[in-house]
Amino acid sequence: MNHSETIQSLIHSFKEAGQGQVFAFFDQLDAAAQAKLVAQASTIDLAEVASLVVEHVVGSHEGGVDVNGLEPAPYTALPANGGDAAEWADALEAGSSALRAGRVAAFTVAGGQGTRLGYDGPKGTYPVTPLTEKTLFQVFAEKIARSGERFEVTIPWFILTSEINNDATIAAFEENNYYGLSKDSVHFIVQGLVPAVDRDGKILLSDKGTIAMTPDGHGGSLRALVRSGAIDTMKEQGIDIVSYFQVDNPIVQCIDPAFVGFHVLGQSELSSKMVPKAYPLEKVGHFCVQDGNALVVEYSDMPNEMQEQTNEDGSIRFNGGSVAIHIFDRDFIARAGGSGEDVKLPFHRADKKIPFVDANGDIVTPDAPNGVKFEMFVFDALPLAKNPVIIEAARADEFSPVKNAEGVDSPHSCKEDQLRMFARWLKAAGESIETDESGLPVFTFEISHRFAADEADFIAQWNALSEKPAIAEGAIVE
Ligand code: UD1
Repeated sequence: MNHSETIQSLIHSFKEAGQGQVFAFFDQLDAAAQAKLVAQASTIDLAEVASLVVEHVVGSHEGGVDVNGLEPAPYTALPANGGDAAEWADALEAGSSALRAGRVAAFTVAGGQGTRLGYDGPKGTYPVTPLTEKTLFQVFAEKIARSGERFEVTIPWFILTSEINNDATIAAFEENNYYGLSKDSVHFIVQGLVPAVDRDGKILLSDKGTIAMTPDGHGGSLRALVRSGAIDTMKEQGIDIVSYFQVDNPIVQCIDPAFVGFHVLGQSELSSKMVPKAYPLEKVGHFCVQDGNALVVEYSDMPNEMQEQTNEDGSIRFNGGSVAIHIFDRDFIARAGGSGEDVKLPFHRADKKIPFVDANGDIVTPDAPNGVKFEMFVFDALPLAKNPVIIEAARADEFSPVKNAEGVDSPHSCKEDQLRMFARWLKAAGESIETDESGLPVFTFEISHRFAADEADFIAQWNALSEKPAIAEGAIVE
């Protein structure tokens, strides 16, 4: 086939699939715009779109999530909450040796659009620390570097981006000298895009020569790791343990030796951290079991009365909040992100306001949801995984995301949570520090994660200092 026949055949396949409108304005485009549209259209899996439309857009699609027989998932409690301290100590040891053996990589999903925060740029470049305003990427880089130093290895860092922010993300790393990491140890993985459709399942154009495409959700990270060859890179480097976290949460323990240990000792394909919910209707996923399989049920899929159910002692029944912190077995990613039908992640439907080109070629900006985008969720891999492990994490040490411009989960609440954490670390190391009743220090200071990655590390590092810096307004421990 010559070039023009290839284009004709592509257009034909779209017409055959009932999506001919994608090329409605093709003849009005100049050669460069035509080439761009053809390139974009060639990436679309029409069979996948057709099945998504049948399943989620046209027809009954009542489906939803079946909440019958859901039970709260069992988990390993923290020693402070009744867990077995010896079991945690064994996990710490097992995880530390897996780390020393160089088996662990960090993996951050940062392909989302971050619309809620109203920040125009890759979310990882958002400043978050209370005093020096280090960015999310800087904080993670420092934790990863410090963990590498602690376990005497280089810990590779894989970062999921999307077409929308990949160039800007790489530019930020370049400008900041890879935040002190070696460039070879940082790998960017671009996630896939899926076309958005109208309520009749027709693919939308955002202008006459551009298809409206959106990232395929953090669940798309698994297939992106496979397609990009990252899984092969991991295999070559002897990495089989992938520590997964979201870009929005600076207090996450990027590399947690005890968590790694529970994953290894449990021979788990997918391990997860849970935190007890802060209140019954907190907007987090819930760890559950159904028909013997572990799964996460999103807050939007679980009826409120179920989220509000209590145990006999008055505690919340579905208490296991998912904070999107997992460890994946590399071969499981290869399976769940591969082409095998039995282990495919499902897509979810989200109704959105999607600017589009109407039949006259005019761009319309809707003020109510007019279209549907499709996303995969990474936690849908849980029921597919062998030996899933769920351990409890302390919210204060692990989860304070920056999601909203103000209020809950905002830059302000996150800065305060970081300060409380720094104060707790100092107190745990035997220092006294003045705080209010919520544990918030009465002045602003900072502990660099290049100095310590977590509380245990801080205590060891602090005690090893021959001269300890005074902790006061503006102090930086680094
Ligand atoms: C998510 C989880 C929720 C969990 C909460 C914890 C979903 C549907 N829900 O909610 O169960 O309790 O986090 O904070 O995920 N991302 C990509 N590519 C995409 C979409 C998202 O990389 O295509 C990344 C984002 O950059 C971000 C993360 O995934 O790091 C979370 O996405 P977001 O849409 O903000 O999830 P939440 O609704 O906050």
